[in-house]
Amino acid sequence: MSHKLAIVGGTGAVGRVFIDYLNNHKLDLDEIKIVASKRSAGKIIKIENSEIKVEDIESFNFSSVDFAFFSAGSEVAKKYAPKAKKLGCTVIDNSSCFRRDDNVPLIIPEVNGEILDKLPLPEIISNPNCSVSQLLIALKPIHDLYKVKRVDVATYQSVSGTGQDAIEELKLQSKKFLEQKKVEKKVYKSQIAFNVLPGAVRPKLDNGYTEEEMKMTWEAQKILDDSIKISSSCARVPVFYGHSEAVHVETEKDVNIEEMISKMNSFSGLKVVESNDSFNPNPLDDAEGDDAVFVGSIREDLWQKNRVNFWVISDNLRKGAALNSMQILERLISKIK
Ligand code: A2P
Repeated sequence: MSHKLAIVGGTGAVGRVFIDYLNNHKLDLDEIKIVASKRSAGKIIKIENSEIKVEDIESFNFSSVDFAFFSAGSEVAKKYAPKAKKLGCTVIDNSSCFRRDDNVPLIIPEVNGEILDKLPLPEIISNPNCSVSQLLIALKPIHDLYKVKRVDVATYQSVSGTGQDAIEELKLQSKKFLEQKKVEKKVYKSQIAFNVLPGAVRPKLDNGYTEEEMKMTWEAQKILDDSIKISSSCARVPVFYGHSEAVHVETEKDVNIEEMISKMNSFSGLKVVESNDSFNPNPLDDAEGDDAVFVGSIREDLWQKNRVNFWVISDNLRKGAALNSMQILERLISKIK
């Protein structure tokens, strides 16, 4: 079977990282096409030694590819992913459009990748929210050992999670603010430079949480265990790449910290980094540009033996988006060889 791939949103923040992977990893692909909006149609993007012309999604023929990676937002996914599937193309979608749909698998290969092995294709497969992927990679070994009951998590999310326009906004606002000039706000309603935006997104939902906060609960329950109780407080912070999370976990059985660290260290894609004289792991020094999920500052709870506290840090464009999708694609390709 041929393996032809379309990258929808290939000109965006996540799409660019996906292309970077294709330039550095050998995937068994016969052809790659890049798709975006009219705005970018005709632009040339280099992958390996070939120059690929960006195609307009409106005229793109999804029956010409076997797989499509979508990272162009929910509206684009809603309109084009079902059409693509009908035309025989398996879609890996990075938006939140289908994540809560019972008929659409939501996959982190290290956690529930076995679902892919018995999945009839073509299908739509959802890639989880970036903050959820790194959290669940850290929670899975703990859940396997002690069964996680409850998680309280605070996120410190970088602007690249919002997209390329937000990266540019942080750069421009920082420059203007330091020059004591007027700061313009387009992507976020409040200034992001030198600031912290509670909720990470707007609007709030009826229960007072933002969708970003509720995604942690909805998606973790769908992927890991529907009995897990998760409460989140998300924030957007002036960091370009890499999300940080302060995580407080309560388990059914008491935690043995040495055993837990050893299990985490042997878990695929997870790295425990403890440092006394530096602030590692952190987004800038450790996560940015790295595929791993980093765990640090692991502390036994001061009061309860069935609780543990730690930080989880990862490049949100990698394990949180492009890398996870790439791993899904690799697993699908190996199954249909
Ligand atoms: P374009 O470059 O043509 O605007 P980001 O997440 O960094 O904001 O990137 C969004 C990606 O989704 C870009 O590649 C963008 O393409 C693409 N995109 C946005 N809106 C549409 C649309 N209506 N149709 C197709 N692609 C879209």
